[in-house]
Amino acid sequence: MMVPRSLAALVVAATASLAATPAGFEPASTTDLYVLFNGTAALNGQAMPRLSTTTQPMLGTTTRLNGSSYAVLMIDIDIPTNTPPETNTLLHWMQTGLTPATTATNIMTSGGRAIQLFLLENRTQTEPVVTYFGPNPPARTPLSHRYTQILVDTSGVTAQSINGLQSAAGTRPAIGFNASAVLEDANLANKVVAGNFFNVTNPGPVMGVATNTTGTTGNNNTVTAGAARAGTYGTVALGAVAISALFL
Ligand SMILES: *[C@@H]1O[C@H](CO)[C@@H](O)[C@H](O)[C@H]1NC(C)=O
Ligand SMILES: *[C@@H]1O[C@H](CO)[C@@H](O)[C@H](O)[C@H]1NC(C)=O
Ligand SMILES: *[C@@H]1O[C@H](CO)[C@@H](O)[C@H](O)[C@H]1NC(C)=O
Ligand SMILES: *[C@@H]1O[C@H](CO)[C@@H](O)[C@H](O)[C@H]1NC(C)=O
Ligand SMILES: *[C@@H]1O[C@H](CO)[C@@H](O)[C@H](O)[C@H]1NC(C)=O
Ligand SMILES: *[C@@H]1O[C@H](CO)[C@@H](O)[C@H](O)[C@H]1NC(C)=O
Ligand SMILES: *[C@@H]1O[C@H](CO)[C@@H](O)[C@H](O)[C@H]1NC(C)=O
Repeated sequence: MMVPRSLAALVVAATASLAATPAGFEPASTTDLYVLFNGTAALNGQAMPRLSTTTQPMLGTTTRLNGSSYAVLMIDIDIPTNTPPETNTLLHWMQTGLTPATTATNIMTSGGRAIQLFLLENRTQTEPVVTYFGPNPPARTPLSHRYTQILVDTSGVTAQSINGLQSAAGTRPAIGFNASAVLEDANLANKVVAGNFFNVTNPGPVMGVATNTTGTTGNNNTVTAGAARAGTYGTVALGAVAISALFL
């Protein structure tokens, strides 16, 4: 059957938005932020093998951005707590000073599909505020974590706003990172121009929660021999805070 030309165009338009922030996440965006790990586009809740997300991704947009400076934030919004199904958040990456390319680059993604992207480049060699550290969800509930990326237009903003972002990453606990509150404090609310998320899942099964010597937790307090080990992935320094990364 012939599909009318106009209808074909509509079908393309309807599926055009590939990347967006996950439902319920604030500040939300439905504008595609392409997040590429070695040529694999990790878009719109795409399940990614953990090991392919260990180094920072390339970022790009399908339409040319008109600003001169952007920041990217990546937040895990599925950090397990001792009172499941409640979850918490954790900041995984904050890089400011990104510049959009003025010409599109032909990027070959896995599966041989080529896309035209305006890459976000670190031309000024700006040091990250929080260096990218890759997903590492523990064997706790929830096993599947959504890693959310937002792109913030920081063109022409005051040094104070940038300092605000930096101090937010440094002084707020990296756990419990509230992107809305941080952007409001830095006068960058409503400056989110694109977003995305991808999933990384621990194969499970869910192990017991970590030992709580001061009392019971909201979960079953019985800890199997391997539980603490299964949930611990070493220590990550985040600004002034060093946390034992039980729940990345
Ligand atoms: C990136 O992908 C290429 C082609 O699939 C592969 O040969 C290479 O090993 C990958 N590099 C990393 C760091 O995963
Ligand atoms: C990603 O995680 C969310 C929340 O856990 C889940 O609803 C969704 O099905 C997952 N998507 C994939 C592709 O695994
Ligand atoms: C840049 O693009 C954004 C989003 O499309 C738009 O809201 C804004 O008005 C534009 N700014 C300029 C200076 O063109
Ligand atoms: C930007 O440049 C700094 C300094 O060379 C580097 O540490 C950082 O990883 C770069 N960030 C990106 C996103 O390329
Ligand atoms: C995050 O901050 C926003 C704005 O300040 C606030 O409305 C919201 O309740 C906060 N979310 C959490 C989980 O604390
Ligand atoms: C340990 O259990 C006590 C009593 O239920 C609770 O108040 C405390 O928050 C728990 N600590 C942790 C780290 O879960
Ligand atoms: C906690 O888990 C252990 C081992 O699976 C089980 O034997 C015990 O009945 C559970 N206790 C509660 C209160 O659920």
